[in-house]
Amino acid sequence: MSVQPIEWLGNKVRILDQTKLPQKEVYIETADYSVLASAIRKLQVRGAPAIGVAGAYGIALGALAIEAESKEEFLKKFQRVSRAIAGTRPTARNLFYAVERMDKVAQGGKNVAEIKAKLVKEAIKINKLEAEATVKMSKFGATLIKDGFTILTHCNAGPLATTGYGTALGVIIRAAEQGKKVKVYADETRPLLQGARLTVWELQKEGIPVTLITDNMAGYFLSQGKIDCVIVGADRIAANGDTANKIGTYSVAVLAKENGVPFYVAAPTTTIDPSLKTGKEIPIEQRKSEEVTHLRGVCIVPDCEVANPAFDVTPHKYISALITERGIIRKPLGVGINKIIGR
Ligand code: MRU
Repeated sequence: MSVQPIEWLGNKVRILDQTKLPQKEVYIETADYSVLASAIRKLQVRGAPAIGVAGAYGIALGALAIEAESKEEFLKKFQRVSRAIAGTRPTARNLFYAVERMDKVAQGGKNVAEIKAKLVKEAIKINKLEAEATVKMSKFGATLIKDGFTILTHCNAGPLATTGYGTALGVIIRAAEQGKKVKVYADETRPLLQGARLTVWELQKEGIPVTLITDNMAGYFLSQGKIDCVIVGADRIAANGDTANKIGTYSVAVLAKENGVPFYVAAPTTTIDPSLKTGKEIPIEQRKSEEVTHLRGVCIVPDCEVANPAFDVTPHKYISALITERGIIRKPLGVGINKIIGR
């Protein structure tokens, strides 16, 4: 893909600062894992799969910088690095998937030099797996898209949010590449405008027609019969198919069902958390109030109480199908998930 949100440059990492898009394309290069941890927290790198890859690279950077005489000493210091990365954002399952894989590699290595080399390899592998998953998923998902479809999406689930094609946008991009004439309505996605800033930017780069709407217009367009299907990404999917995604997704899903419009979730299996029975157990990140009260540094509201949950959970009954790199999971989603992840 033309957009690379995160790249491993040997002993350092380069990320595209997504908070500056679309006005400026600014890159951050760092060999310091705490800079990467802070970039994840600040959403300079964001989107569940990209957070996972950034986490893995962050752990690799942290490990490379550790000075230790023995494996035991190394593991003690490594735990601090791994915990710091795991503590950046709580909702995206991909982050914990990456942390768990990196922890396992660290435990399994023989000596400090070998562990460091293996951790770098593992982080690169996680990136490759996430990128490949988006390619496969986009092919399965594109079978659901007919020529002439108008698709509604929420937040940003494109190349910027993954290290490949994207999840929801990957499906749309693939359908367009197959010659299907598709159009997209993009919810702006308050409060941080990932839809307006990032999805519109990405779709324009791909030459796919896109109309920007505010979040509260979604019901209007769904009720007008203007939307053929909704596709969104996911941050964590529970064993029964309940799905956490950017705040506002739940409202769109309910409105889609009310209007008889299929609602699809596209996500790699690394987003599925089979340890959680239902979406009620998914931890929801609460972010600072300034993201709601301020626009580009300017306060736009009187002094007041503010709530800012970053995600909501869409119960599985509103989801028509899950699109993964291993195939499309139809209802009942819980049964399909079980089968596809081989439990
Ligand atoms: O807070 P963000 O911008 O990281 O939230 C991102 C989303 O909610 C995406 O829709 C989700 O991660 C799917 S990305 C492929």
